[in-house]
Amino acid sequence: MLETAENGRTWVLSGPTSSYAVHLTERDELLHLHWGPRIALADAEELAARPLPGGSSFEAPLDGHEEYPVEGGPRFVRPALSVRTPERRGTEWTFDRYETDGDELRLRFRDAGLAITLHYRTRGDVVERWTVLDNEGTEPLELLRADSATWTLPDREEWLLSHVHGRWAAESRLVRSPLTYGEKVIGSRRGHTGHQYLPWVALDTDATEERGEVYGCALGWSGSWRIAVAQLPDARVQITGGAGYDESGLLSLAPGESFTTPLFAALWSDAGFGGASRTWHAYQRAYVIPDADRDRPVLYNSWEATQFDISEEQQEVLAQRAAAAGVELFVVDDGWFGARTSDRAGLGDWTPNPDRFPAGLKPLADRVHSLGMQFGIWVEPEMINPDSDLYRAHPDWVQYQEGRKRTEFRNQLVLNLAREDVQEYLWEQLHGLLSSAPIDYVKWDFNRCFTDAGWPGDAYPQRLWVDHVRALYALLDRLREAHPGVAFESCSGGGGRIDLGILSRTDQVWTSDNTDPLDRLAIQHGFSQIHPARVMAAWVTDSPNTQLNDRVSSLRFRFVSAMAGVLGVGGDLSEWTEEELAEAREWIALYKEIRPLVQHGDLHRLCPPTGGLSAVQYTRGDESVVLALLQAQHYGEPVPALRLRGLDPTAAYECLETGEVHRGAVLLHHGLRTGLRGDLDATVLRLRRI
Ligand code: GLA
Repeated sequence: MLETAENGRTWVLSGPTSSYAVHLTERDELLHLHWGPRIALADAEELAARPLPGGSSFEAPLDGHEEYPVEGGPRFVRPALSVRTPERRGTEWTFDRYETDGDELRLRFRDAGLAITLHYRTRGDVVERWTVLDNEGTEPLELLRADSATWTLPDREEWLLSHVHGRWAAESRLVRSPLTYGEKVIGSRRGHTGHQYLPWVALDTDATEERGEVYGCALGWSGSWRIAVAQLPDARVQITGGAGYDESGLLSLAPGESFTTPLFAALWSDAGFGGASRTWHAYQRAYVIPDADRDRPVLYNSWEATQFDISEEQQEVLAQRAAAAGVELFVVDDGWFGARTSDRAGLGDWTPNPDRFPAGLKPLADRVHSLGMQFGIWVEPEMINPDSDLYRAHPDWVQYQEGRKRTEFRNQLVLNLAREDVQEYLWEQLHGLLSSAPIDYVKWDFNRCFTDAGWPGDAYPQRLWVDHVRALYALLDRLREAHPGVAFESCSGGGGRIDLGILSRTDQVWTSDNTDPLDRLAIQHGFSQIHPARVMAAWVTDSPNTQLNDRVSSLRFRFVSAMAGVLGVGGDLSEWTEEELAEAREWIALYKEIRPLVQHGDLHRLCPPTGGLSAVQYTRGDESVVLALLQAQHYGEPVPALRLRGLDPTAAYECLETGEVHRGAVLLHHGLRTGLRGDLDATVLRLRRI
């Protein structure tokens, strides 16, 4: 709901439980009024009438109160917008007009030839903001910085900042620490979202998993980005974020050109971190993820088992075993194309390797379909090996600086996707590939960061940072439109490209190259703060885990860990015993039963993975499932019962595993006993209301 005051200068946007209010002063300053529980327009008008606190000549009263602080004038905060023209720098805007359209508010300002439109839209309790900059003048403008939005928190003492951090094979680990005076900046200057942080922050003062106020903000951009959380000298807190890491020049706008910033979404919840996560998940399933109401299938992928050493016959044997275990989607990973027998060659040449697939991919795809499974492949379209036909033909199609080294990571360079000829080449290759065989799924990888992001000959080469992402999005959108039955997975050496932008055009993400079932618990715990299980791919791989740590764990433990997301199998099935295959078949069958709850239900994190017991619960309608994992039991002490969530205290629930009937009130207040013992034990407990 969107309400406008009679004077056309105060607005309140409301979701089911929350409101967001802004006010435009007589001097055209756009001030933040409220973000929190629902309020009425009259409440916002009282807030609008409150004068800003005064200050000395060393302070700017506007600081910490503006919705979109521009550069210049009486401000000392980090500007959300920094514009340069041949004559001047900074912005001094005047209000032009406002427009309302359902739940969307547009506030339009002008400064000489530049039009600045701030967009606000409510999606349930999530507020989406973005900014559109139009050059309506006659001279070029340089956008040094153009953030999506600035979010302002209410005055409180002692905020705590939560975010996730990590690196390759160790992504999205949650940290929470006191915010102090100054700025905390997270982001990526790597050209992709990065393994180091998900573009998300949460702030609270005293929230728990179950209760308390939580503010969260998440950016939808798959290139370099920055979110800065500032505690100002008067203790007010503002969060500013957008595309690009630095102020060194984002884009140059010629007369008539415009730039739409990425989306910056945010929410307030008074139901703790659990409530905030459930609101994020529901928002993404309803408004971000394509076809989110469709189940994601159980997949098999042989990457960990076979690496580059693949052949049609070997893949067929694996496919037979996978089908017998109940797998629904068989994926051929790296190594099927060009001269790709190692990571030294082939990227760029997206046609099947004639030695390995003499008749192309169709025979294998048909065989996989005849086994009752969908067929998928791996690609890494934005990359190129110098040892490829493409590079030999077009050495200038990569990002490079004239006269400088071309840095290779994993023996590969990054294609310059800002170039139209590169865009067209990739479209033709991928469209041709998807038309050449019945392909149902594409794992789209991105295995190195930008290092030499230059474009010799272009008047404004910096733009390739932004234009790469725009071209990636356009290519994905075009492929999805031409091949509506194909699902896409975003992968970047695991979780290096996960954000609301890529999620609006992919069906799931590869959470991490780390498939160790114990490490995964913390990775999944951090990931679940923002994104739903519906997109969180998780594989069961071999034990010992030779890839990472030689850890030995049971199939039971590996399956229960992976069943908390979109289940996949990534072990060498040709080495699994008949007993192991039979056990896998049972776990996969059980996963298919609980899948509607896991992929579409409400998540309750019962116990964080801190070394002992950890557990998640998914509920949907009258059903609930608990996935509980015990890392280590100590001193023979009994494992504590799990207090469940989201149940009706007056109802009775049958546990399908034990046949026992429990009162809802007992499960909520005294808990469910798991029967877990020893080290690396795990269980799945299903409950049905009777
Ligand atoms: C990346 C992915 C892996 C695998 C390899 C193939 O590292 O994260 O899952 O696809 O590339 O080269």
